[in-house]
Amino acid sequence: MNRPAPVSSRLPEFTWDTLDAAAAVAAAHPDGLINLSIGTPVDPVPPVIRQALAAASDAPGYPLTAGTPALRDAIAAWVARACGTGVDGLGVLPTIGSKELVAWLPTLLGLGPGDVVVVPSVCYPTYEDGARLAGATTVRTDSLTALGPDPRVRLVWVNSPGNPTGRVLPVNHLRKVVDWARERGAVVASDECYLPLGWSAEARPVSVLAPEVCGGSYDGVLAVHSLSKRSNLAGYRAGFVAGDPALVAELLKVRKHAGMIVPAPVQAAMIAALADEGHADAQRERYRARRERLLAAFTGAGFTLEHSEAGLYLWLTRGEDCWRTVDWLARRGILVAAGALYGPGGAQHVRVALTASDAHVAAVPGRLAQP
Ligand SMILES: Cc1ncc(COP(=O)(O)O)c(C=O)c1O
Repeated sequence: MNRPAPVSSRLPEFTWDTLDAAAAVAAAHPDGLINLSIGTPVDPVPPVIRQALAAASDAPGYPLTAGTPALRDAIAAWVARACGTGVDGLGVLPTIGSKELVAWLPTLLGLGPGDVVVVPSVCYPTYEDGARLAGATTVRTDSLTALGPDPRVRLVWVNSPGNPTGRVLPVNHLRKVVDWARERGAVVASDECYLPLGWSAEARPVSVLAPEVCGGSYDGVLAVHSLSKRSNLAGYRAGFVAGDPALVAELLKVRKHAGMIVPAPVQAAMIAALADEGHADAQRERYRARRERLLAAFTGAGFTLEHSEAGLYLWLTRGEDCWRTVDWLARRGILVAAGALYGPGGAQHVRVALTASDAHVAAVPGRLAQP
Protein backbone atom coordinates (compact mmCIF):
# COMPACT_ATOMS: atom_id res chain seq x y z
CA MET A 1 0.00 0.00 0.00
CA ASN A 2 1.30 3.44 -0.96
CA ARG A 3 0.69 5.87 1.86
CA PRO A 4 1.07 9.59 1.04
CA ALA A 5 4.20 11.24 2.49
CA PRO A 6 3.41 12.53 5.97
CA VAL A 7 2.68 16.27 6.08
CA SER A 8 5.36 16.66 8.76
CA SER A 9 7.97 15.62 6.17
CA ARG A 10 7.38 19.01 4.50
CA LEU A 11 8.45 20.77 7.70
CA PRO A 12 11.90 21.23 9.21
CA GLU A 13 12.96 19.85 12.58
CA PHE A 14 11.06 21.75 15.29
CA THR A 15 13.19 24.82 15.91
CA TRP A 16 13.61 24.47 19.63
CA ASP A 17 14.77 20.82 19.54
CA THR A 18 18.11 21.97 18.12
CA LEU A 19 18.76 23.87 21.36
CA ASP A 20 18.35 20.74 23.52
CA ALA A 21 22.08 20.11 24.04
CA ALA A 22 22.74 23.71 25.12
CA ALA A 23 19.62 23.61 27.34
CA ALA A 24 21.00 20.54 29.16
CA VAL A 25 24.34 22.29 29.77
CA ALA A 26 22.64 25.49 30.98
CA ALA A 27 20.25 23.55 33.26
CA ALA A 28 23.24 21.93 34.98
CA HIS A 29 24.52 25.32 36.22
CA PRO A 30 24.74 25.21 40.05
CA ASP A 31 22.52 28.31 40.36
CA GLY A 32 19.98 27.01 37.83
CA LEU A 33 18.86 27.86 34.32
CA ILE A 34 18.11 31.40 33.14
CA ASN A 35 16.04 30.87 30.04
CA LEU A 36 16.22 33.82 27.63
CA SER A 37 15.56 31.65 24.58
CA ILE A 38 11.77 31.96 24.20
CA GLY A 39 9.55 35.01 24.15
CA THR A 40 7.01 33.54 26.53
CA PRO A 41 5.47 36.00 29.02
CA VAL A 42 6.21 35.31 32.71
CA ASP A 43 4.22 38.08 34.42
CA PRO A 44 0.66 37.49 35.66
CA VAL A 45 -2.42 37.86 33.49
CA PRO A 46 -3.91 41.25 34.47
CA PRO A 47 -6.88 40.83 36.87
CA VAL A 48 -9.28 42.77 34.61
CA ILE A 49 -8.77 40.11 31.92
CA ARG A 50 -9.02 37.12 34.29
CA GLN A 51 -12.27 38.49 35.68
CA ALA A 52 -13.74 38.85 32.20
CA LEU A 53 -12.72 35.26 31.37
CA ALA A 54 -14.27 33.93 34.59
CA ALA A 55 -17.47 35.91 34.13
CA ALA A 56 -17.90 34.35 30.66
CA SER A 57 -17.20 30.78 31.75
CA ASP A 58 -20.81 29.63 31.46
CA ALA A 59 -20.61 29.11 27.70
CA PRO A 60 -22.57 26.03 26.65
CA GLY A 61 -23.25 27.11 23.07
CA TYR A 62 -20.95 27.37 20.05
CA PRO A 63 -19.15 30.71 19.74
CA LEU A 64 -19.19 32.83 16.59
CA THR A 65 -16.18 32.33 14.29
CA ALA A 66 -16.51 36.00 13.32
CA GLY A 67 -16.38 37.01 16.99
CA THR A 68 -19.21 38.60 18.96
CA PRO A 69 -20.29 42.07 17.80
CA ALA A 70 -18.74 43.46 21.01
CA LEU A 71 -15.41 41.81 20.23
CA ARG A 72 -15.46 43.00 16.64
CA ASP A 73 -16.11 46.55 17.86
CA ALA A 74 -13.32 46.25 20.45
CA ILE A 75 -10.86 45.05 17.82
CA ALA A 76 -11.80 47.85 15.41
CA ALA A 77 -11.54 50.48 18.15
CA TRP A 78 -8.10 49.21 19.21
CA VAL A 79 -6.85 49.11 15.62
CA ALA A 80 -8.03 52.70 15.13
CA ARG A 81 -6.05 53.80 18.20
CA ALA A 82 -2.92 51.68 17.85
CA CYS A 83 -2.58 51.76 14.06
CA GLY A 84 -3.80 55.32 13.53
CA THR A 85 -6.40 54.30 11.01
CA GLY A 86 -10.11 54.64 10.34
CA VAL A 87 -12.51 51.76 10.89
CA ASP A 88 -14.77 52.32 7.85
CA GLY A 89 -14.43 49.38 5.52
CA LEU A 90 -11.99 47.59 7.81
CA GLY A 91 -12.38 43.80 7.99
CA VAL A 92 -11.64 42.20 11.39
CA LEU A 93 -11.55 38.58 12.56
CA PRO A 94 -10.39 37.01 15.83
CA THR A 95 -7.84 34.17 15.61
CA ILE A 96 -6.71 31.46 18.01
CA GLY A 97 -3.49 33.32 18.78
CA SER A 98 -1.64 34.59 15.73
CA LYS A 99 0.64 31.61 15.09
CA GLU A 100 -2.15 29.48 13.66
CA LEU A 101 -3.08 32.24 11.22
CA VAL A 102 0.55 32.71 10.20
CA ALA A 103 0.90 28.97 9.63
CA TRP A 104 -2.35 28.53 7.70
CA LEU A 105 -2.68 31.84 5.84
CA PRO A 106 -1.15 30.56 2.57
CA THR A 107 -3.49 27.54 2.66
CA LEU A 108 -6.53 29.66 3.59
CA LEU A 109 -5.76 32.01 0.69
CA GLY A 110 -5.58 29.07 -1.71
CA LEU A 111 -1.84 29.14 -2.41
CA GLY A 112 -0.24 25.94 -3.64
CA PRO A 113 2.63 24.50 -5.67
CA GLY A 114 4.17 27.06 -8.03
CA ASP A 115 3.15 29.99 -5.84
CA VAL A 116 5.79 32.05 -4.04
CA VAL A 117 5.64 33.42 -0.51
CA VAL A 118 8.19 36.16 0.25
CA VAL A 119 9.47 36.27 3.83
CA PRO A 120 12.07 38.48 5.56
CA SER A 121 15.68 37.28 5.19
CA VAL A 122 15.95 36.57 8.93
CA CYS A 123 12.57 35.82 10.46
CA TYR A 124 10.07 33.92 12.59
CA PRO A 125 10.14 30.37 11.16
CA THR A 126 6.36 29.97 10.89
CA TYR A 127 6.16 32.13 7.72
CA GLU A 128 8.14 29.48 5.87
CA ASP A 129 6.33 26.62 7.63
CA GLY A 130 3.03 28.06 6.38
CA ALA A 131 4.31 28.17 2.80
CA ARG A 132 5.49 24.56 3.13
CA LEU A 133 2.13 23.42 4.52
CA ALA A 134 0.48 24.89 1.41
CA GLY A 135 3.11 23.33 -0.90
CA ALA A 136 4.23 26.82 -1.99
CA THR A 137 7.82 28.03 -2.38
CA THR A 138 9.49 30.49 0.00
CA VAL A 139 11.85 33.26 -1.08
CA ARG A 140 13.82 35.02 1.67
CA THR A 141 14.53 38.65 0.92
CA ASP A 142 14.17 42.12 2.39
CA SER A 143 14.30 43.76 -1.04
CA LEU A 144 11.54 43.01 -3.51
CA THR A 145 13.56 44.49 -6.37
CA ALA A 146 16.01 41.60 -5.88
CA LEU A 147 13.25 39.16 -6.82
CA GLY A 148 13.57 39.52 -10.58
CA PRO A 149 10.73 39.95 -13.05
CA ASP A 150 8.37 37.07 -12.72
CA PRO A 151 8.17 34.72 -9.83
CA ARG A 152 4.51 33.96 -9.04
CA VAL A 153 4.49 35.95 -5.81
CA ARG A 154 1.08 35.64 -4.14
CA LEU A 155 1.93 36.63 -0.56
CA VAL A 156 4.55 38.92 1.00
CA TRP A 157 5.19 38.78 4.75
CA VAL A 158 6.61 41.76 6.56
CA ASN A 159 7.28 41.83 10.30
CA SER A 160 7.91 45.16 11.96
CA PRO A 161 9.01 45.31 14.73
CA GLY A 162 10.78 42.15 13.68
CA ASN A 163 11.44 38.89 15.44
CA PRO A 164 14.31 38.13 16.00
CA THR A 165 16.04 41.39 14.96
CA GLY A 166 13.86 44.03 16.62
CA ARG A 167 14.14 45.96 13.36
CA VAL A 168 11.52 48.63 12.67
CA LEU A 169 10.67 49.15 8.99
CA PRO A 170 10.22 52.81 8.06
CA VAL A 171 7.05 54.09 6.40
CA ASN A 172 8.79 54.37 2.98
CA HIS A 173 9.85 50.75 3.03
CA LEU A 174 6.38 49.50 3.97
CA ARG A 175 4.74 51.75 1.40
CA LYS A 176 7.01 50.39 -1.36
CA VAL A 177 6.13 46.82 -0.38
CA VAL A 178 2.41 47.62 -0.54
CA ASP A 179 2.73 49.38 -3.92
CA TRP A 180 4.85 46.53 -5.35
CA ALA A 181 2.36 43.90 -4.18
CA ARG A 182 -0.70 45.80 -5.41
CA GLU A 183 0.82 46.14 -8.89
CA ARG A 184 1.13 42.34 -9.01
CA GLY A 185 -2.08 41.36 -7.21
CA ALA A 186 -0.15 39.86 -4.30
CA VAL A 187 -1.32 40.09 -0.69
CA VAL A 188 0.81 41.86 1.95
CA ALA A 189 0.53 40.22 5.37
CA SER A 190 2.08 42.38 8.06
CA ASP A 191 2.82 40.59 11.33
CA GLU A 192 2.49 43.38 13.90
CA CYS A 193 2.43 41.42 17.14
CA TYR A 194 5.22 43.62 18.60
CA LEU A 195 3.76 46.94 17.41
CA PRO A 196 3.03 48.27 20.94
CA LEU A 197 6.63 47.63 22.08
CA GLY A 198 8.72 50.47 20.62
CA TRP A 199 11.79 51.62 22.57
CA SER A 200 13.06 54.47 20.43
CA ALA A 201 11.36 57.73 19.45
CA GLU A 202 13.39 57.73 16.20
CA ALA A 203 12.18 54.30 15.10
CA ARG A 204 8.48 54.35 15.90
CA PRO A 205 6.76 51.15 14.74
CA VAL A 206 4.08 51.84 12.12
CA SER A 207 1.23 49.61 10.98
CA VAL A 208 0.61 48.61 7.38
CA LEU A 209 -2.92 49.93 7.99
CA ALA A 210 -1.69 53.48 8.68
CA PRO A 211 -2.82 55.85 5.90
CA GLU A 212 0.77 56.90 5.15
CA VAL A 213 1.52 53.25 4.30
CA CYS A 214 -1.64 51.90 2.66
CA GLY A 215 -2.88 55.21 1.27
CA GLY A 216 -6.17 54.98 3.15
CA SER A 217 -7.29 51.82 1.29
CA TYR A 218 -7.06 48.33 2.82
CA ASP A 219 -6.95 46.72 -0.60
CA GLY A 220 -4.62 43.69 -0.51
CA VAL A 221 -3.29 44.26 3.01
CA LEU A 222 -3.75 42.27 6.22
CA ALA A 223 -2.35 43.19 9.63
CA VAL A 224 -1.86 40.30 12.05
CA HIS A 225 -2.00 41.12 15.77
CA SER A 226 -1.64 39.22 19.01
CA LEU A 227 -2.52 39.82 22.65
CA SER A 228 0.10 37.28 23.80
CA LYS A 229 2.84 39.83 24.46
CA ARG A 230 0.88 43.06 24.98
CA SER A 231 -1.41 41.54 27.59
CA ASN A 232 0.49 38.43 28.87
CA LEU A 233 -2.12 36.25 27.18
CA ALA A 234 -0.04 33.65 25.36
CA GLY A 235 -1.86 30.95 27.33
CA TYR A 236 -5.29 32.17 26.22
CA ARG A 237 -4.49 32.03 22.47
CA ALA A 238 -5.88 35.41 21.50
CA GLY A 239 -5.09 37.22 18.27
CA PHE A 240 -6.80 38.84 15.32
CA VAL A 241 -6.39 39.88 11.73
CA ALA A 242 -7.55 43.23 10.32
CA GLY A 243 -7.49 44.75 6.86
CA ASP A 244 -8.91 44.11 3.38
CA PRO A 245 -12.60 43.33 3.99
CA ALA A 246 -12.85 40.97 1.01
CA LEU A 247 -9.84 38.95 2.13
CA VAL A 248 -11.06 38.87 5.73
CA ALA A 249 -14.51 37.71 4.54
CA GLU A 250 -12.86 34.89 2.59
CA LEU A 251 -10.81 33.86 5.64
CA LEU A 252 -13.99 33.85 7.70
CA LYS A 253 -15.81 31.62 5.18
CA VAL A 254 -13.07 28.99 5.21
CA ARG A 255 -12.44 29.18 8.95
CA LYS A 256 -16.16 28.65 9.65
CA HIS A 257 -16.02 25.35 7.77
CA ALA A 258 -12.74 24.39 9.41
CA GLY A 259 -13.90 25.09 12.98
CA MET A 260 -11.16 27.65 13.62
CA ILE A 261 -13.12 29.41 16.39
CA VAL A 262 -11.90 31.45 19.35
CA PRO A 263 -13.57 30.06 22.53
CA ALA A 264 -16.34 32.29 23.95
CA PRO A 265 -14.63 33.01 27.32
CA VAL A 266 -11.46 34.01 25.47
CA GLN A 267 -13.50 36.33 23.25
CA ALA A 268 -14.85 38.01 26.40
CA ALA A 269 -11.33 38.25 27.84
CA MET A 270 -10.08 39.84 24.61
CA ILE A 271 -12.72 42.60 24.88
CA ALA A 272 -11.50 43.45 28.39
CA ALA A 273 -7.85 43.34 27.29
CA LEU A 274 -8.36 45.55 24.24
CA ALA A 275 -10.38 48.13 26.19
CA ASP A 276 -7.67 48.61 28.82
CA GLU A 277 -4.38 50.34 27.98
CA GLY A 278 -3.31 50.61 31.65
CA HIS A 279 -2.04 47.04 32.00
CA ALA A 280 -0.36 47.19 28.58
CA ASP A 281 1.48 50.40 29.55
CA ALA A 282 2.63 48.84 32.85
CA GLN A 283 3.84 45.70 31.07
CA ARG A 284 5.73 47.77 28.49
CA GLU A 285 7.53 49.61 31.30
CA ARG A 286 8.48 46.26 32.91
CA TYR A 287 10.01 45.16 29.62
CA ARG A 288 11.73 48.52 29.18
CA ALA A 289 13.47 48.13 32.56
CA ARG A 290 14.50 44.53 31.81
CA ARG A 291 15.74 45.56 28.39
CA GLU A 292 17.96 48.29 29.86
CA ARG A 293 19.52 45.88 32.39
CA LEU A 294 20.07 43.09 29.87
CA LEU A 295 21.44 45.49 27.27
CA ALA A 296 23.96 46.92 29.76
CA ALA A 297 24.97 43.41 30.87
CA PHE A 298 25.50 42.01 27.37
CA THR A 299 27.23 45.04 25.86
CA GLY A 300 29.39 45.22 29.03
CA ALA A 301 30.43 41.62 28.32
CA GLY A 302 31.57 42.52 24.81
CA PHE A 303 28.46 41.75 22.76
CA THR A 304 27.41 44.11 19.95
CA LEU A 305 23.74 45.07 19.59
CA GLU A 306 22.08 45.32 16.19
CA HIS A 307 18.62 46.76 15.43
CA SER A 308 16.51 45.91 18.52
CA GLU A 309 14.80 49.32 18.41
CA ALA A 310 11.52 47.62 19.33
CA GLY A 311 9.98 44.29 20.29
CA LEU A 312 10.85 41.72 22.88
CA TYR A 313 14.41 40.73 21.96
CA LEU A 314 18.00 41.87 21.85
CA TRP A 315 19.76 40.83 18.63
CA LEU A 316 23.38 40.40 19.61
CA THR A 317 26.65 39.21 18.11
CA ARG A 318 30.20 38.46 19.21
CA GLY A 319 31.33 38.21 15.59
CA GLU A 320 31.54 34.42 15.75
CA ASP A 321 29.37 31.44 14.82
CA CYS A 322 26.14 31.66 16.79
CA TRP A 323 26.43 28.12 18.17
CA ARG A 324 29.75 29.06 19.83
CA THR A 325 28.00 31.97 21.52
CA VAL A 326 25.07 29.73 22.53
CA ASP A 327 27.54 27.26 24.12
CA TRP A 328 29.52 30.04 25.86
CA LEU A 329 26.31 31.34 27.45
CA ALA A 330 25.03 27.83 28.26
CA ARG A 331 28.16 27.22 30.33
CA ARG A 332 27.08 30.23 32.38
CA GLY A 333 23.59 28.81 32.80
CA ILE A 334 21.99 31.16 30.26
CA LEU A 335 20.01 29.77 27.35
CA VAL A 336 19.49 31.98 24.29
CA ALA A 337 18.21 31.30 20.76
CA ALA A 338 20.76 30.75 17.99
CA GLY A 339 20.36 33.29 15.18
CA ALA A 340 20.76 30.54 12.57
CA LEU A 341 17.31 29.25 13.56
CA TYR A 342 15.85 32.33 11.85
CA GLY A 343 17.68 32.04 8.55
CA PRO A 344 21.24 31.91 7.20
CA GLY A 345 21.59 35.67 7.74
CA GLY A 346 21.46 35.06 11.49
CA ALA A 347 24.46 32.70 11.59
CA GLN A 348 26.56 35.03 13.77
CA HIS A 349 23.84 36.34 16.09
CA VAL A 350 21.92 35.22 19.13
CA ARG A 351 18.48 36.35 20.25
CA VAL A 352 17.98 37.28 23.88
CA ALA A 353 14.37 37.49 25.09
CA LEU A 354 13.26 40.20 27.53
CA THR A 355 10.63 37.82 28.96
CA ALA A 356 12.48 36.74 32.10
CA SER A 357 11.61 37.45 35.71
CA ASP A 358 13.28 40.45 37.38
CA ALA A 359 15.25 38.04 39.59
CA HIS A 360 16.66 36.23 36.58
CA VAL A 361 17.44 39.46 34.77
CA ALA A 362 19.28 40.74 37.87
CA ALA A 363 21.41 37.58 37.93
CA VAL A 364 22.58 37.90 34.32
CA PRO A 365 25.52 40.35 34.84
CA GLY A 366 27.05 38.02 37.46
CA ARG A 367 26.71 35.03 35.16
CA LEU A 368 28.32 36.90 32.25
CA ALA A 369 31.24 37.90 34.49
CA GLN A 370 32.04 34.24 35.23
CA PRO A 371 35.41 33.21 33.80
C1 LIG B 1 6.78 37.38 14.91
C2 LIG B 1 5.80 36.53 15.62
N1 LIG B 1 4.60 36.32 15.07
C3 LIG B 1 3.67 35.57 15.67
C4 LIG B 1 3.92 34.97 16.88
C5 LIG B 1 2.85 34.11 17.50
O1 LIG B 1 2.31 34.62 18.63
P1 LIG B 1 0.93 34.12 19.19
O2 LIG B 1 0.55 32.85 18.47
O3 LIG B 1 1.15 33.87 20.64
O4 LIG B 1 -0.06 35.20 18.93
C6 LIG B 1 5.14 35.15 17.51
C7 LIG B 1 5.42 34.51 18.79
O5 LIG B 1 6.45 34.61 19.39
C8 LIG B 1 6.11 35.96 16.85
O6 LIG B 1 7.31 36.18 17.38
